[in-house]
Amino acid sequence: MCGIVGYIGPRDAVPILLNGLRRLEYRGYDSAGIAVYTGPGEIQIRRNVGKLQGLVEAVEREPISGSPGIGHTRWATHGEPTVYNAHPHRSQSGRIVVVHNGIVENFLELKAELVAEGFTFRSETDTEVIVHLIERYLEGENLSLFEATRRALRHLKGSNAVVVMAAPEPDKLVTARLGNAGGITIGYGQGEMFIASDLPALLDHTREVAFLEPGQMAVVTRDGARLYTLDGEPVDFQVTTVPWDPVAAEKGEYRHFMLKEIHEQVRGLTDTIAGRVDVEQGRVRFLHLDISPQQARGIRKIFITACGTAYHAGLVGKTLLERLARIPVEVMVASEFRYADPLIGPDDVVLAISQSGETADTLAAMEEGRRKGATLWAIVNVIGSQAMRMADGYISMQVGPEISVASTKAYTAPLVDLYMLGLLLGELRGTLSAEQRRRLVDDLMHLPELVSEVLRREDDYAAVARQYVPIRNIFYLGRGIHMATAYEGALKLKEISYIHAEGYPAGEMKHGPIALLEPDFPVLALVPQDPWYEKMLSQVEQAKSRGAPVIALATDGDERVAELADHVLYIPPTPWLLAPVTAVVPLQIFAYVIATERGLDVDQPRNLAKSVTVE
Ligand code: M6R
Repeated sequence: MCGIVGYIGPRDAVPILLNGLRRLEYRGYDSAGIAVYTGPGEIQIRRNVGKLQGLVEAVEREPISGSPGIGHTRWATHGEPTVYNAHPHRSQSGRIVVVHNGIVENFLELKAELVAEGFTFRSETDTEVIVHLIERYLEGENLSLFEATRRALRHLKGSNAVVVMAAPEPDKLVTARLGNAGGITIGYGQGEMFIASDLPALLDHTREVAFLEPGQMAVVTRDGARLYTLDGEPVDFQVTTVPWDPVAAEKGEYRHFMLKEIHEQVRGLTDTIAGRVDVEQGRVRFLHLDISPQQARGIRKIFITACGTAYHAGLVGKTLLERLARIPVEVMVASEFRYADPLIGPDDVVLAISQSGETADTLAAMEEGRRKGATLWAIVNVIGSQAMRMADGYISMQVGPEISVASTKAYTAPLVDLYMLGLLLGELRGTLSAEQRRRLVDDLMHLPELVSEVLRREDDYAAVARQYVPIRNIFYLGRGIHMATAYEGALKLKEISYIHAEGYPAGEMKHGPIALLEPDFPVLALVPQDPWYEKMLSQVEQAKSRGAPVIALATDGDERVAELADHVLYIPPTPWLLAPVTAVVPLQIFAYVIATERGLDVDQPRNLAKSVTVE
């Protein structure tokens, strides 16, 4: 959470910082600010509460220009979203400024120490202790900015990322990463350098980047960067070229990123499959996940760990991997994983799923797996992210940047990755014959076409959604592989429309929740043709008999469902192992339409951020 940017070079930093923050606004939008070195010995700051546009207007009213500069878009943790809590934060002398992502866990203790030394705090944030600590060493002990920052950082507990700038040393920015609090990526230009929490802020300028690992810091000048450990030892590092196209991070003709990303699923799935399957042989191979038959046969259990939407993908993955490769799979929300003391050993695999690859809970779960000797695999979208680098092997999602806070294409891509992983493990473990594999691969090859057909029906789904705009509550019910679809459909609706939506295993309704049903409490039931079809039909009957309106998601031509339900969202016939992909798309559209009809900002819903890099 929180986005941080930095620029040093011959150009005016202001438009570069503002543009970078616009790209990172999905990480938090409670407030935004920039600090720029404006002339001999002077740093000026502009800050504003609310979205970035407010800051842009503040800068228009009171222009500044210069270089270097740093910027921040905030997702509040300590202290309300107010101007005085907005970053950048300034030291007492006014000569040092800092932007920060993460949580200083011992900030109360540090604050008390600094107050006793005579430092005055102007905000409620934990960040302010960092800038005062740096000042303690820079001004108090006459250390260089690098050395003062290094000494200051050694006091901090928790996961934190910072960029620091100081008026006495305007030829550099100092940046550091402690723990898993979001990434720091350094971008290489021609005679200019960039810093950002995430790639989208850099891609307009460069694709040559270096990633800071936890426990590293860097001194960035306009000619390059030098990396160090927190002990001040120089570190060797690599500059890599990232493949993403900057245009992919633009909204284009679409009204919202969410809608664009829903529509990108056809291309995303095509790219996800392409190059990985051999149709003739019924084989799957992943470039960065090399598994030997011996290793595959030796796996005792796979622990899938993830958060939010990625967790729901993991739930579908359990069915896929167990059915195809006959390996026991446990799925755990990452925030619980490390505290559960899971029974993992060297014969197990911990498989993390994460769009950002920076979610603090997921990274902590991976670390727990590492500590216990398990093999680490990851399914990740953001190239170069921490999860990708931590894993022993990974599958990249191939869907390009996902900007909208509500995850869509980064849900369907891992479903397909997990299906392909099931095929691969099924082959290596001998649980699938060549004939079965060829049929399963053939099914997969038709999937993008089916999703394309679903998207052609967007207007039909939207027309149904418009009838449910005023609702206050809704149940999403599913069974078997579609329990996860129900959870995911409900999450999409609640996070962008603020309607109370609950995903529930349909068979559990009769054990309590059915008491809630009444004529203004609709049910969205997932009733495609699959092994749970008959069971789901009786669940729909039960809901109807309690007076609840029913929206059913069903397979084309299903008359039985049409007779029972008030509205039907039809999807084309899809092999049931792949139906979570075609079934979720109408639910994404349903949520999107209700939220936009309610006039809400679907790309940046309240209280949320795209990357959750705090615990
Ligand atoms: O980047 P990650 O996939 O690790 O993020 C996990 C969740 O924070 C994320 O899926 C979240 O639930 C989305 N807002 C859902 O749309």
